[in-house]
Amino acid sequence: MNDHPEFPSALLRKVWSLMPEGIRQTVSSEPIIPAIAARAKTIAASRPDFIRSDQGQVVGIFPEKEIFYGPSAGLEELRDLVARFWTNAYNLKGKPGLPPHGLDKRHVAIVSGATEGLSIVMHLVAFGRNVGLMSLFWSNYKGIIRNAGGNPVVVPLFDAEYKIDFKKAENLIREKEITSLLINFPNNPSGDILSDEEMAGLAGLADDLDLVLISDEVYNFIRYKGDPQSMLAFAPERTIVVSSASKEYLIPGARVGYVLSADETFAGSWMPKMIRSFSSSPNVLGQRVLVDILKEEVSDFENGRAPRIITEVKKELEERCRLIISVLRDKGFSLAGRDEDFPSGAISVLARLPEWIKVDDKAFVDKAMELEKFSAIPASVFGAPGCLRFGYAGMPREDIGRLSRHLQDVLDYYRKNQ
Ligand SMILES: Cc1ncc(COP(=O)(O)O)c(C=O)c1O
Repeated sequence: MNDHPEFPSALLRKVWSLMPEGIRQTVSSEPIIPAIAARAKTIAASRPDFIRSDQGQVVGIFPEKEIFYGPSAGLEELRDLVARFWTNAYNLKGKPGLPPHGLDKRHVAIVSGATEGLSIVMHLVAFGRNVGLMSLFWSNYKGIIRNAGGNPVVVPLFDAEYKIDFKKAENLIREKEITSLLINFPNNPSGDILSDEEMAGLAGLADDLDLVLISDEVYNFIRYKGDPQSMLAFAPERTIVVSSASKEYLIPGARVGYVLSADETFAGSWMPKMIRSFSSSPNVLGQRVLVDILKEEVSDFENGRAPRIITEVKKELEERCRLIISVLRDKGFSLAGRDEDFPSGAISVLARLPEWIKVDDKAFVDKAMELEKFSAIPASVFGAPGCLRFGYAGMPREDIGRLSRHLQDVLDYYRKNQ
């Protein structure tokens, strides 16, 4: 009853079947105001005597202070740059299920950070449903799913050896009647990534179980091992990618994120209609900042070079990661997550408390702060009790050096007071 067989792609058919009725109306209506504005703008460009009274903003009083609303889908120039960046960075040209040229601007909607992107996507797929949340997970996901009327159900992907237990995941997904699955690699908090075979396996699982995969790829280029990959290349018909410039380009305050899909109706039409009723349009100033950055990055790619800005960011992050790991090991912490030597990506390390510490992660962090030594996130909030997440991206190298002494002070406290 809910299917809409005329839709040309599995993604549209599936997402439509999950949408509440009211949202179906939003994505299938043609809002009049943006259509008139777009037409008026085109006419005004060639007819100087054309008078515009369609605009909902004050103009012509302090022209130098004006910042115009942007299009709901985001600035075209930015959508084009993001598409070219992703096509190059994740090798999306010529992949089955994707256009032969890779992505173009029709496959990109700009949003106010990945957070808004995830919220909107959840409003499309989560209402009244169980949404699978892979473990470990960013702590904000649960609220995002619940705000959209969904129920987060944690799906632990890995077994004790950190292999994906596909059978177990499948059983849980069937049992809980999960219709979409939210994944995040490189992972916050662990930095874990998936191998190509595992990504293909997940794509197969999504096909078998008719799932929508929502792939949070905000750290996608920050990898210390192997080539970056996007889930879009493995399950183009099932994947909605949410990503952002917050982490990789150091501009979280600019609030610029993107939602990508192989389906141009989804990214180029349904998303902007949703954005219009969420935030009207993403932040124009932030988008301009990113346009300047991505122009350089895309030009590097298209001239056969590694993108310089992000490569520099990655190099510094890798060094900070190396430093913090040596401090943590020295104090008796071990790395949790798939790789015990070095995380595969992202911007934090997940460290297991030394065994002799008898308090839990929350109490330990609380004490470290009470003693005014350092902060960290108790990783039980990500589904990893007994561990702490140290976000080294926000720690210049000098701070990492000083962490050693401050950690020692907290450990000394427990030596004396346990
Ligand atoms: C996994 C993950 N997704 C999304 C976000 C939010 O990104 P944005 O600043 O683009 O909203 C974060 C921020 O910490 C994150 O860790």
